[in-house]
Amino acid sequence: MRGAIFGAVFAAGLAFSAAHANDPIAVNINASEPGPRIDRHIFGQFAEQLGTQIYGGIWVGKNSKIPNTRGIRKDVVAALRELHIPDVRWPGGCYADQYHWRDGVGKTHNARINTSWGDVLDTNAFGTDEYFDFLKQIGAEAYVSVNVGSGTVEEASDWLEYMTADKPTALAKLRARNGHPAPYHVAFMGIGNESWDCGGLMTPTEYTARMRRFARFVNDLDPADKMQKIAVGPGTSDTAWTNAVMDTWKKRHGWSFDINGMSLHSYTVSGGWPPHMASADFGQKDYAAVLKETLKMDGLIQKQSAVMDKYDPDKKIALVVDEWGAWLAPTPGSNPAFLQQQNSLRDAILAALNLDIFARHADRVRMANIAQMVNVLQAMLMTDGPRMVKTPTYYVFKMYVPFQDATLLPVRYDAGTYTAGDLALPRVDVIAAKAKDGRSVVSLVNIDPTRPADFAGTVPGAGASIARGETLTAPAVDSVNSFAAPNTVIPKPISANVANGRLAISLPPKSVTVLTLGRTP
Ligand code: AHR
Repeated sequence: MRGAIFGAVFAAGLAFSAAHANDPIAVNINASEPGPRIDRHIFGQFAEQLGTQIYGGIWVGKNSKIPNTRGIRKDVVAALRELHIPDVRWPGGCYADQYHWRDGVGKTHNARINTSWGDVLDTNAFGTDEYFDFLKQIGAEAYVSVNVGSGTVEEASDWLEYMTADKPTALAKLRARNGHPAPYHVAFMGIGNESWDCGGLMTPTEYTARMRRFARFVNDLDPADKMQKIAVGPGTSDTAWTNAVMDTWKKRHGWSFDINGMSLHSYTVSGGWPPHMASADFGQKDYAAVLKETLKMDGLIQKQSAVMDKYDPDKKIALVVDEWGAWLAPTPGSNPAFLQQQNSLRDAILAALNLDIFARHADRVRMANIAQMVNVLQAMLMTDGPRMVKTPTYYVFKMYVPFQDATLLPVRYDAGTYTAGDLALPRVDVIAAKAKDGRSVVSLVNIDPTRPADFAGTVPGAGASIARGETLTAPAVDSVNSFAAPNTVIPKPISANVANGRLAISLPPKSVTVLTLGRTP
């Protein structure tokens, strides 16, 4: 099976060749022809008001015994800070199209029923000001989804005024009375969510009519800011919606309106809807099936990008994969509306494969938000009362920090084949980049759960004398980190000398490895 290729065949740069007699792997990384920047926003997150994500997972309230800063959990903030999270999408998801921002500001927040997720009471204790406090604590930017389904242009416009007005308008004064005189920075605004489904079951024509008005009249009022507007895009490989959004954008004129991105939602749901694959206690058959399914992300991006290219060959509009990840069967005994699932080594490998796909499409995919952040779907963290555990997916995001805003380096390799029953998958997956600090960084995913991957390579001209990094693996494909055993799936340091320009390294089965090339002191 041919591996992923970005660019042509290269002579210069970093070259690995396989040392494994039965399964030769050849990797050739071209350091002399850099590709696009891997936007740090592809490492974005999604935190919907859903289940125990906000309430319990992030927000515990100022009077909680769980250590907190102004109501926000200290342990969760400390863990998330290590991921250098670029942005957090909030308040939904489906919930965004039922959310009315005034319920979450001021002295008395109004409780409502969360009809999107289990008909539970949403106290709205966590509102706009708490969201921005959370962002500040973890060092991320804002990505708000405005209510297009049950809200109005006026309501959304008022919300943006509340958040961003730098002059003494009525809503800037309200914000000041609520303790925040300075405007907030809103980096991204989503114009609705899945308007073809939970966002109002609209036709493309209905949506684009609304999109034009929201994009025209809902604005960031801080002239110093350049908020980007993201339209709802497709959720399947069907291209009718994409054509409608892109055609509407193409036909805009003058000061009518503009958008900067279009979303793509794609979950890994193996075996069809509803999600029924177990998130724990599964074997290699399910491991292979889920990873095979997730690799379809590449074809989906290619297909939707090709449509975008017709209208936008200069790639002004970003494809924003603002919901992605594994959607598995709910954890037995949990409220199914809370979308709680375990997170295993398989999720870690799935995350790495998707991040690699986004990086390879970095010229068009300039943002992505994994679903979701805490306690929901493919989460970074899980909490239970005062306890918190970092998931295998968390560690992949941490290991991939050097790829944030790095420059993609073209790579050619023969991935080989990993077969499981009648399923055939690539055996390995590789990306490489030049990090912001100038050092080369490589991710090597060994998908095969039974065979190690041995590499031997040369590093011509780079002056590197050592490759250092971390490998994430575990005893089994379904290994998880539990509250009782939180260190079952954690990265371990790995290094290899680069002697006379040659590098040799052996990577364990079912593993993710990120290496940075450098010099020994
Ligand atoms: O992430 C859970 C839900 O999945 C989101 O609310 C919705 O946008 C999507 O269908």
